[in-house]
Parts: sequence; structure tokens; C-alpha cells
Amino acid sequence: MCGIVGYIGTQQACPILLKGLRRLEYRGYDSAGVSMISSTGELNVFKSKGKVDDLESFLEDKDVTGTIGIAHTRWATHGVPCRENAHPHFSSTGTLSLIHNGIIENYASIKERLKEKGYTFVSETDTEVLVQLIEYYKIKYNSDLLSAVQRALSQVIGAYAIAVLDKNNPDEIIAARKASPLAIGLGDGEYFLASDATPIVEYTKKLIYVEDNEIAIINRHSGVNIITIQGKEVSHEVSEVNLDLGAIEKGGYEHFMLKEIFEQPECLLNCMRGRINDEGTDIRFSSIIDYGQRFINARRLVIVACGTSWHAGLIGKSLIENFCRIPVEVAYASEFRYSNPVISEEDVVIAISQSGETADTLAAIELARSKGAFVYGIVNSVGSSIARNTHTGSYIHVGPEIGVASTKAFTGQVTVLSMLALCIAKERNTITQEQLQEALQELLRIPDKIREVLKQNDTIASLSRTFTYAHNFIYLGRGYNYPVALEGALKLKEISYIHAEGYPAAEMKHGPIALIDAEMPVVVVATNKALYEKILSNIQEIKARQGRVIAVVVKGDDTISKLVDYVIELPETVEFLYPLLASIPLQLLAYHIAVCKGKNVDQPRNLAKSVTVE
Ligand code: M6R
Repeated sequence: MCGIVGYIGTQQACPILLKGLRRLEYRGYDSAGVSMISSTGELNVFKSKGKVDDLESFLEDKDVTGTIGIAHTRWATHGVPCRENAHPHFSSTGTLSLIHNGIIENYASIKERLKEKGYTFVSETDTEVLVQLIEYYKIKYNSDLLSAVQRALSQVIGAYAIAVLDKNNPDEIIAARKASPLAIGLGDGEYFLASDATPIVEYTKKLIYVEDNEIAIINRHSGVNIITIQGKEVSHEVSEVNLDLGAIEKGGYEHFMLKEIFEQPECLLNCMRGRINDEGTDIRFSSIIDYGQRFINARRLVIVACGTSWHAGLIGKSLIENFCRIPVEVAYASEFRYSNPVISEEDVVIAISQSGETADTLAAIELARSKGAFVYGIVNSVGSSIARNTHTGSYIHVGPEIGVASTKAFTGQVTVLSMLALCIAKERNTITQEQLQEALQELLRIPDKIREVLKQNDTIASLSRTFTYAHNFIYLGRGYNYPVALEGALKLKEISYIHAEGYPAAEMKHGPIALIDAEMPVVVVATNKALYEKILSNIQEIKARQGRVIAVVVKGDDTISKLVDYVIELPETVEFLYPLLASIPLQLLAYHIAVCKGKNVDQPRNLAKSVTVE
């Protein structure tokens, strides 16, 4: 979703801002813009529809001088993607410019009030209303920008991370946050701000994360001062961010998504490092050591998440119920937050999120906490809002995920959930030491087994060409593999725009079988030992109706291999770990089909990496 960047210091702001916008491209956007106070004291705003490249071309003959500036990538919510609706937005007198990530929910009523006072608007956005409101208060009370921002924000309902420039004060940026991420980088005589650390780490590792209802005054001479909207001073810890620049670059791969798929063996090793000992005889999670009783005594666990993270949650349910014998519910965070859920102090809520900024998941956490539940986060993005708003949790440690389609974060989440389930089972004595050891040792072998699967990349690439022109796909799986089917279907639709649906294999005969004909590719994840005969029957039913089957099987499975059109083989593992292997070929299949179709794999249309609005 929208990305914001700001700079104030001794260097020219524009190149830093444009580079920052490029780092934020992965969040998804449809237009971009910059605003600088020029060397001659002009407040300039330049923006364009399309990509940062389009903006850069547009800037070629413009005055882009200035050592203070703000910039924005917009993901349309209010109003179509076009230059007028792109940010930054000017105030009526042209003395203020503002960028915004979030949604001002009561913008319509504020707009009406301002119109009655003679204000006119050039865009359809909620953001323009905010900059006009700030200017209105600035003029009405003859105040400085800070007081006007405070007054305006106390009127606003909704979510925002904003940054404002005032032509009359070229030494200061005012920024504020409520429910949308905002980080400030502290350099040597220069300051950066951004929606996340990626545009900043190149210049400084020292970061301050602005909290909800706070305003940051970033001054060229006096540095960063943070207050609440009501004006109370607050102090903040400065975090050291350990983000390797290489991790946010493509490193020779054609797309971030492919790089991230191939990184998975290393990522999962990082995820297990320090948690499972080298011999695979023991597992330790510091958060479980500290809060073990909450899990041991939990009446039930409730997992809240969205999208791919929700699919990981479904696997988590099977893992925790099987190993720990605690009932688990899995809810879409967006449904949970409005469902008046029955939650008490005896419940543990697990929030799963790659970005750590998903608005619905954050709201679900807030609700669960207000009802007394203990909230555990499984998060990738270090220092993100979800990581900071949960009682405790575990990072998945897979490094920045830039491709919009989640890949390594999914397997990282499933790995953490597997370890969490085993760790709680150990504490609750629902697993024997022998079973635990067997499970941990097999978990340690998974990265090598993923390497084996990745060797089939070329085969999967060539079979993908056959399916480039398909209009629909069905994905089937059972037990632990049912969420893998859902995830495979989501990957395909996200990046190739082919309609795809995931089903529990046995549900096929209750409806989807009507769709099967010679045109319908069906991906069947058929690794389940216990339900092998049943999956085999499902495949026979599809073949009897001329469906084209791509089967993901365990190496050496001659029976299914003879029956189907295409086979992808996985090394043998234990039942609960197949999702970590089976999801890899499905990621590759979606990737190659999308590439064959010429789609923008890393930034698919309409999608955002961090969904920071409802
Ligand atoms: O950052 P989160 O894990 O909270 O994001 C949740 C979903 O928006 C995300 O998983 C989305 O479904 C991905 N695009 C899937 O590839």
C-alpha cells in the first residue's frame, strides 16, 4: 500500500527520495510524487500516474533542487489512479504539501465543512481534505504548522502516517502516525523518514519507530522531537536495524519472487538456528520459556491472520491440535475484529503476519488484548507494529520479503508453527522424548530436502508453458496439504490472474467436480500416507472426466505417476512436514506461468505487500 519517504539534511533530497520510493515499490502502487522546498524557497510538487520511472522522466525538466523533501507512492483508495489524486497534495494557498498513508474515514463531513468556508478541492482523495484542514487551522489561529497539525489530527477519524512541508519553514518536517507505520532514521546531521526501514538502511541503522497518536518534529538543526497529539513530550528508544542491503536487492535473479523461492533452504535454517540444537534432541523458544504457563493452561488457541498467513495458520491448527491436544480456531483477522468473538483471559491468540503491519490483524490484536487474552505474534518484519503490539512472540527470521506474493514467509511461518507446536507439546507432556527427537531431526533435514525439490525448477518451468493459456485451475489436498492447496491457488491467481480454487480433495464430489473437463488442470498434492487410497480415487475421478492432473507425489510413487499427466516428486518426510516441501513446486508453477504470460510477477496489479488499510 502507499509508501512514504522524507529527507532533511545537507544532501540534495530528490535523488534520495526517488531511491527510497524504489525501495518501497514492492508495497504496491499506481502513482508517485515528490515535493521539495527548492534552493530559491519555492515549495514544488511533482507527481505522475504510473511507476517511479514515469515520475523520474516527468522530473527531467523540473526544478528538483532542495535539501528537504517528501515523497509518496499511492495505492488508490479514494479516487482513480491519476496525477490529480497522486500525493503530495498542496493546500489551497500552496504553502503546505502533505503525503499520507492510510484512510481518513470522516473526510466527507470535513470536506463539506471546508467547502462551506469556501475551500475548493482538485482531487477526489481523503488526503487533500487533511492538508486543507491543517491550513484552515493554521490561518484561523495564526499558528505554526505543529499546532495546526495537532488541531487537525484531533478532528480526524481513521488511519494515517503523514508528513507535511511548510514553505515558510524550510528547516522542518512534521510527521505523525496512527495505525499506519512510520520510521525515522537518524543520520549524521540528516534525517530520513519512511513507511519501513528499507529506504533508510543505506544511510543509517539508527531508527525510531513512531507510535500511534504521536507527532514527530524533525528539524534540520535541533533533530527529532516526539510529542503526543495532545502535546506531551515522549522519549523513544533508538533501535539498531540489522538489515543487509543485499537482502533487499535481486542478487542476479530475474525477479524477487524467484530469489525468495530459492532462498528458502537458507531462510528455514536461520529460522531454526538457536531454537533447535544441532543434534536435534531439544528445542527452546525463549518466549515459551518465559510464558510457558499461558500456553500450558490455555483453554484454547485462536489464530488470527490474513491471506497467506491465514493459510499458515490453518496448518498451525493441525500441528497444535495433533501435537498438543489444545483446541485451535483459525479466524480471518478481518472477520474476527467485527464478530464480537468469545475471548477470555484463558485464551491465547496467535497473530501471524509477514509485514507486521496488516491493519485487520492489528485491530484483531487490539480487540483480543482488550478482552484479556494473551497475544503471541509470529512476524517477519523486525520492529513492526504487530511485533510491538503483541505480548511476546517469535520472529520467523527469513529476511525482507519484497515480492508481493508471499513465499519464504509462508514456509518460515509454518516452520515456526511446527517448532511452537513441538515446544508446547514438550511442556505439556503430550509428546514423548523419542517422538520429539524424531520430529526435530526431520525438521533439520527439511532445508536439504527443499534444495532437492528446487532442482526440478526447469521441469516445472517447461510444464508451466503448457498451462499458460488455462483460464481456471483447481488445487486439491487433504489434511496438512489442504492449506497447501489453498496457498497454491492463491499464488496462481495473485500473479498470473488465472482463476484458481483450492479444495479439500474429498470435497470435489460435492460440487467442483462439475467443472472438470479436458480443459481443466487439477493440481493434486498427494503425499498423504494415511489417506493414499482416497486421494488415488479422487485422481481417478478426475481422469475419468478427462481432467489434466499435475500430481505432487512422494518419490517412487509409481501408482499415481502412471495415472496422471505430470508428476512432481518430493523427497520422503513425515506427514506434518510435507507442507514445507509441497508448497515449493506450487510456488514455482505459479511463478513460471505468470512469467510465461508476461505478468509483473513482483508487483501484480491491484495488490499491495503491506495492507495497511481496511
Ligand atoms: O503481511 P501479512 O502476512 O499480514 O499479509 C497478509 C496478506 O495480505 C498476504 O499474505 C497476502 O495474501 C499475500 N499477497 C499473499 O501472497
